[in-house]
Amino acid sequence: MMARRASWLAGLVAAQLWLIVAVRGRFVVEKSSVRVLAPEHIRGHHDAAIGNFGVPDYGGTLTGVVIYPDKKATGCAEFDTKFKSKSRRPVILLLDRGECYFALKAWNAQRAGAAAVLIADSVDEQLLTMDSPEASPGTEYIDKINIPSALVNRAFGESLKKMTRTVAGDGDGDGEEVVVKLDWRESMPHPDERVEYELWTNSNDECGARCDEQMEFVRGFRGHAQLLERGGYARFTPHYITWYCPEAFRLTQQCKSQCINHGRCVRSPGCENAPAAARACVASVADRRRRWWVSGRYCAPDPEQDFGAGYDGKDVVVENLRQLCVHRVANESGRPWTWWDYVMDYKIRCSMKEKKYSKTCAEDVVTALGLDLKKVLECMGDPEADAENAVLSKEQEDQIGSGSRGDVTILPTLVINNVQYRGKLERTAVLKAVCAGFKEGTEPRVCLSPDIETNQCLHRNGGCWRDEATNVTACRDTYRGRVCECPVVNGVRYEGDGYTDCQAVGPGRCALNNGGCWSETRGHQTFSACSETALSGCRCPPGFHGDGHKCEDLNECSEKLACTCPDCHCKNTWGNYECTCKGNQLYIRGEDVCIANSMSKLGWFITLVAVACVAGVGIAGYVFYKYRLRSYMDSEIMSIMSQYMPLDNQNNENQPLRQHDSEALRH
Ligand SMILES: *[C@@H]1O[C@H](CO)[C@@H](O)[C@H](O)[C@H]1NC(C)=O
Ligand SMILES: *[C@@H]1O[C@H](CO)[C@@H](O)[C@H](O)[C@H]1NC(C)=O
Repeated sequence: MMARRASWLAGLVAAQLWLIVAVRGRFVVEKSSVRVLAPEHIRGHHDAAIGNFGVPDYGGTLTGVVIYPDKKATGCAEFDTKFKSKSRRPVILLLDRGECYFALKAWNAQRAGAAAVLIADSVDEQLLTMDSPEASPGTEYIDKINIPSALVNRAFGESLKKMTRTVAGDGDGDGEEVVVKLDWRESMPHPDERVEYELWTNSNDECGARCDEQMEFVRGFRGHAQLLERGGYARFTPHYITWYCPEAFRLTQQCKSQCINHGRCVRSPGCENAPAAARACVASVADRRRRWWVSGRYCAPDPEQDFGAGYDGKDVVVENLRQLCVHRVANESGRPWTWWDYVMDYKIRCSMKEKKYSKTCAEDVVTALGLDLKKVLECMGDPEADAENAVLSKEQEDQIGSGSRGDVTILPTLVINNVQYRGKLERTAVLKAVCAGFKEGTEPRVCLSPDIETNQCLHRNGGCWRDEATNVTACRDTYRGRVCECPVVNGVRYEGDGYTDCQAVGPGRCALNNGGCWSETRGHQTFSACSETALSGCRCPPGFHGDGHKCEDLNECSEKLACTCPDCHCKNTWGNYECTCKGNQLYIRGEDVCIANSMSKLGWFITLVAVACVAGVGIAGYVFYKYRLRSYMDSEIMSIMSQYMPLDNQNNENQPLRQHDSEALRH
């Protein structure tokens, strides 16, 4: 079924070890969906099997144009052109199966500019998982494949090919393109708000590229794993594959050096009643009539494939067991994520290369991490005992697939929400898949960080808004694909639809590219349409008109907006105007009127004061004069009257006066 698995099994048989599940091999093909969007008449939905290399876009989709190359359609040789679609959509290259590794086709497609590769099966059969070849010289490209790949069945492949040919062959070059949407959103179940995932691994650190890949993954993913688990978002469980020695070989030196717990293979009459490990045995052994029951025997292949030298498989099994127990003890003490630290530290401090792959070294690491060594030892039990080991038996049992998960037959295998992960074991690719395991909207921050970029923003800014002047962009890559959201830059918040428009709002907004508003300097004068007092928007300053993004000088004179007094002279300037009044008058800007200049005003004032004074003096003088005249006349009349009549009553001054007075009037 899979190229790599076959060769891997061959290697094991040579080492005389068997995997619990190797023979039966319930292998689940993980699928994505391919939806044909155009042309109209072949619209429809098809399954595709996700390849075990490259980066499937778990949780996301990719819409692109299918191109089937005229030449080298197997994709086994490097293409000499870059494929482009007329509509500038991403290219999904369709290639034929056969002649070389699947991974090589994907690599050549990637180098030719494809965003994804579909491989059309050459025979009518069930979909199968395309695996990557065993690491060997010349296959270094596998790690560089970062596009998704999928296998489609022969019939669907043929119809796609036919359609792309018709499209290309219609001469005018304007034919409708074959547009398909690859969809991985349902490839990862996301039942709840917590993701359960497990990594099937091995503590062997000397198996070449495979082991290096696993270690590199642990190194890179550790931070994410710990964040996810500390936050309660995910539960991680490490698992270790172990093998067993079939009965026929159990006394050989090879089996002895590769196994622990003195195990025996027992022929069991009633396997159904046997414990868990036995059920695994029954399920796996081809010859069911013989009904083997594996008891207490746990093996691993010799790290150097040399039974005489270096470390033995036995050492690896013991370390596997220790790492399992480290996780258990760490989990019990509420710090399950310490496993990642242990594995990293053990690799650094106790490598096989430096001949430090030992019990003492391991125990130093356990202690250094603050884990209870006694509990770890207790959990491990006695590897020399002729008895079943509970921890390892459980691992063998767990190797057998259940539910949606197939058997674990490949190292390393990552299982997320009980589905086997397909794609390369690489930090961002795996994080994307883990994140796709959350119910949408419940994913933790680490999933939305720029760290797991889909890099869609690199291509035409993902179709989002961007300010050319400042490179402020609304495009943000997330594992679900890019989102167009107005950003916050240096504490300044942008608001808008994120696609065509984002505007800086709030304090500080004018500091960055003048808040996206118009501004211009001429000579020593600067005008700006951004105002900190307004929390958003752009408004042309007085003297200008426009939408705030472009402002033009307002000609107050020709628009008759100012300087409208009769005989005034108006002159427009940039952002302003000048108005001169006739004669010696002064222009009052606020009222748009002319008045006499300021010197004459003072004159008027002085004159008024003088006039007022003169008037006041006059009135006072008049009143005084009138008063004096009257008293003078009174005394004059009195003296005249006294000449004409004797004053009988000199004491009575009032009476004669009255007579005198009347006399005088008669005159
Ligand atoms: C870790 O601990 C939790 C409870 O604290 C338990 O449910 C889970 O099964 C444990 N995992 C392992 C691998 O022991
Ligand atoms: C914006 O980005 C482009 C290319 O990425 C660069 O050439 C340009 O200098 C940047 N402009 C600013 C203002 O940072």
